[in-house]
Amino acid sequence: MSRASCRSRSRGSSAANASAPRRGSAGRCRQTSARRRAASVPDDFYDKIKARLYRRIGEEISGAQRVVDIGCGGCELARFLAEACEHNVTGVDIKDGAFPDHDGLPKHVRQRLRCIKADGQSLDFLDDGTVDAITAVWAVHEMAEPGAVLAEARRVLRPGGELVIVDFPRDSLAQRLWHEHYYDPREMGRMLERTGFDDVSSRLIERQQVIWAKGLRPSQKEAVR
Ligand SMILES: C[S@@+](CC[C@H](N)C(=O)[O-])C[C@H]1O[C@@H](n2cnc3c(N)ncnc32)[C@H](O)[C@@H]1O
Repeated sequence: MSRASCRSRSRGSSAANASAPRRGSAGRCRQTSARRRAASVPDDFYDKIKARLYRRIGEEISGAQRVVDIGCGGCELARFLAEACEHNVTGVDIKDGAFPDHDGLPKHVRQRLRCIKADGQSLDFLDDGTVDAITAVWAVHEMAEPGAVLAEARRVLRPGGELVIVDFPRDSLAQRLWHEHYYDPREMGRMLERTGFDDVSSRLIERQQVIWAKGLRPSQKEAVR
């Protein structure tokens, strides 16, 4: 993987591009068609798209130096960003059981990657406005207090810094496989807006089996929301 794949960056429009809320019979129809669509997606779909998603994230935050991946699990994305995109990455997870053996990593990765056990709600080891980009992949739906984690993400992001969220949507393949609670893109977008992110967009990608949401920490003096 060359650094070139992390370069081209496309900014979405500022408008939230989300599906309509489900209500009444129209809502039920949408739900049924989403479930039907999910039924036609192979069970290993998420494994198959992982490399492409990682590249897409790398491209999205290509200008960033200091990156934090919240809910990093085994630090796979963090490692990719450190290695392929040359970001300085901190992976954060509430559990450290899947962290890689840091000493066993190649030196060039070791120098750019650290994994820290912490709750995303309190990133006390990071000062305000010191991070260029934050990612959270397949993690927000597992968070007990996602709003508190997003607020903390906003605190540590520099003005203009970007938050990128990738997650499973409701009525997707994930729902069929794992039966957890998932957000829909509109809810995810609203959560970002409520937390005070600007330029929020939230939409479905990858055969509508993935939420791709993003927002910026406001650059100007922030309005009280
Ligand atoms: C489904 S895993 C995804 C892991 C990784 N991002 C990946 O793509 O493989 C979700 C992760 O979020 C972590 N998590 C849940 N709540 C958290 C919180 N409040 N702060 C930090 N990590 C959290 C879990 O421990 C888990 O490792």
